[in-house]
Amino acid sequence: MKLYENLLTQSGFIHKDDLHYPFDERGLQFGDGVYEVIRIYQGNYYLLTEHVERLIRSAKAIKLTLPYSEDQLYKQLNELLIKNKVTSDAKVYLQVTRGSAPRDHVFPGVSANFYAYVQDLPRPTTRLQEGVGVITQEDVRWHNCYIKSLNLLPNVLAKQEAKENGCFEAILHRDQTVTECSSSNAYIVKDGKIFTHPETNNILHGCVRSRVKKLAKQNGILLEETPFTLEQLNDADEVFLSSSTAEVMPIVAINQSLVNNGKPGKITRLLQTAYEQDARIKKTIF
Ligand code: PDD
Repeated sequence: MKLYENLLTQSGFIHKDDLHYPFDERGLQFGDGVYEVIRIYQGNYYLLTEHVERLIRSAKAIKLTLPYSEDQLYKQLNELLIKNKVTSDAKVYLQVTRGSAPRDHVFPGVSANFYAYVQDLPRPTTRLQEGVGVITQEDVRWHNCYIKSLNLLPNVLAKQEAKENGCFEAILHRDQTVTECSSSNAYIVKDGKIFTHPETNNILHGCVRSRVKKLAKQNGILLEETPFTLEQLNDADEVFLSSSTAEVMPIVAINQSLVNNGKPGKITRLLQTAYEQDARIKKTIF
């Protein structure tokens, strides 16, 4: 996948080959930092404000001072697309860490390291049309999942387990309550109503999740932010997930058992169409 050449760092734009991190970078040694993944359709950001606001919240939650003010962030992130002449479907990956300093758990008092790059990312059209399979797994993460932290080991292990079972995602649960997926938010539909875990510390407050809430409302579909159990998951009429890279993705099998006879459901389809319109995606797939 094409990686664009111009990289935004804490000290402005550089060529991607000129980024060199010292061995004592705190992101590498402690995972001491936060990140964002921002979607771009045909060269335009989607939900940029939501991502920038969440980045600021995540940084504040870990007492990290960003190298750019909010205004500067918008300016620089827009410049990133202009400098790279991006016109395709892509993503920006952005991360900020607590800088580089001799290894010590306490904060080093140095300034943050920041980088943001653009990479092409075609839409996952086949999966969006056909739906995906998932497994279920105990959620073994910490209790501050609202922070988009670089510490992703439990997420990585859960996603790998899904892959080894021929699945796209792992739906996570604390005891029997579904929280979210390893890198996306989870929803069920029962009797025409959508249920998803409320915005507590135990889930990432997804940018697409907040847009799904709005799109459901605009389309007269009830969405309740109420936790649901594994039993309710297995008894659902429809199941789907959402994220900046997966969009609104139908789930058609859970632990090998079919959902809705293995077909994406009606409400999921309606939200997928609403999402495409909202993101001003020209070439729609439905
Ligand atoms: N993941 N939950 C988790 C644990 C996530 O990592 C993500 C995003 C989401 C969805 O958030 P949003 O709608 O803002 O993309 C929910 C990104 C895409 C990633 O880590 O690659």
